[in-house]
Amino acid sequence: MSENTNPPFFDLVGNVRAMRRLKSDPVPMETIWKVLNAGVKAPSGQNTQPWRFVLVSDPERKKWFAERYALAIETRFKVTSGVEGRRENPGRQLKALYYQMDHMSEAPYLLLVCGKCDWPFKVPQEDRIGEGPPNYGAVYPCVQNILLACRALGLGAALTTMHQVFEEELHEYFEIPQDYGVVVTIPIGYPMGKFGPVRRIPAEEMTYLDKWG
Ligand SMILES: Cc1cc2nc3c(=O)[nH]c(=O)nc-3n(C[C@H](O)[C@H](O)[C@H](O)COP(=O)(O)O)c2cc1C
Repeated sequence: MSENTNPPFFDLVGNVRAMRRLKSDPVPMETIWKVLNAGVKAPSGQNTQPWRFVLVSDPERKKWFAERYALAIETRFKVTSGVEGRRENPGRQLKALYYQMDHMSEAPYLLLVCGKCDWPFKVPQEDRIGEGPPNYGAVYPCVQNILLACRALGLGAALTTMHQVFEEELHEYFEIPQDYGVVVTIPIGYPMGKFGPVRRIPAEEMTYLDKWG
């Protein structure tokens, strides 16, 4: 056990950062089961537990994913920011993002967290054509439990969503049924750097009492 494991809850929740620089050192499967079993302790509407996991460790499959992930970032960032030069002079977070992109296949595990498709209540029956979106609301508590468990066990993890750009291909390649969507992809491994406090605006500045404003 390293000094990074099992901090008390309020320390832990305050330094679950997106850890994008990961070692390729193997992670024991029993540790991963602890993480996933923390995930499935999450609540869900009517306890439907609509999450499913695809845990990828096969180098070939990780490479397949990493190639498409990199292409998605390159394409999207050029399109959305229009700043090609960022690659040469990126800020701190973008640097980490590019590192993650270049080394995605080296993480011991890529975890695809899938969610059962389910129309939100507010969509009227007659408007429900085809599959609805995955039940994001029910899957994110599970995702957060996974991130907290990784942190508690000294594992680095980062929630990513860029796979949405190539989700159709992803479905086909990993043989994911059409009534499930891939909600997030989480590379997991031991971190290269240290965990540290997250930077967030205090709740006191984000909260209105009794009415907005
Ligand atoms: C809905 C959602 C989508 C995210 N998508 C990505 C992503 O595609 N790639 C990534 O590296 N991080 C992603 N993140 C992580 C955030 O960028 C990160 O948590 C945020 O910038 C704060 O950084 P910190 O957690 O290190 O404090 C996502 C987080 C959320 C909640």
